[in-house]
Amino acid sequence: MDGLSFVQQLDAELQHALAPLAAAPIAPTGEKQKAIIELLKMGLKSEIEASEIAASWMLTTPEMEIKLGLARQCGDEAKHFALMQKRLLELGVDARQLNPVAHGYSPLFHYLRTLHPLVERLAAAQYAREGIAKLVNAKFIEFVEEAKDTRTAALFRETVQPEEAAHHEFARQMLAKYANTPELQDKARAAMRKTLELADELRELASHRLGTAAIPGS
Ligand SMILES: [Fe+2]
Ligand SMILES: [Fe+2]
Repeated sequence: MDGLSFVQQLDAELQHALAPLAAAPIAPTGEKQKAIIELLKMGLKSEIEASEIAASWMLTTPEMEIKLGLARQCGDEAKHFALMQKRLLELGVDARQLNPVAHGYSPLFHYLRTLHPLVERLAAAQYAREGIAKLVNAKFIEFVEEAKDTRTAALFRETVQPEEAAHHEFARQMLAKYANTPELQDKARAAMRKTLELADELRELASHRLGTAAIPGS
């Protein structure tokens, strides 16, 4: 099948895989503002990991349009990190010295580091991970609005969310162009599935810790 039809097939599979998450209620335990602070702190880890992955892949990606896409993403995620740090400070939490990866990176990060073929990278980090981010951020925005935290809601609605959506859309376009043989499409599909599996594990951990399915993503 051609690249565009393949991406449309991936879209359907991703949507189907994320349906349970889309339907899951967000029910962090305890006080809402406290939960928002914890979620923002967890979001910092997601942002810095996404930024580092994009930076490291730039070096080994000869395709100029993708190298530049990775550079944009690297900067966007670093900006999200800084904006979330700033918001935490406004909420009374000084996270400026906090290194979210000081105690290690996530299993998803380690998996992404192993990927080399372009289509696997695109399908995993930019297509699947950003697709998940779009969904969980939408749920996070809802939760934050219910808690009447308008500044955090505005940060996500106006800046973070449109940029995560752009990262996902970039991957869609590039996969349509580069995933153009059955072999490459198989690789991309497998990378998406593995990413979904690892992201599920991360959410499991979060739900044990916070009782929520929506960690702001990158
Ligand atoms: Fe981000
Ligand atoms: Fe992103």
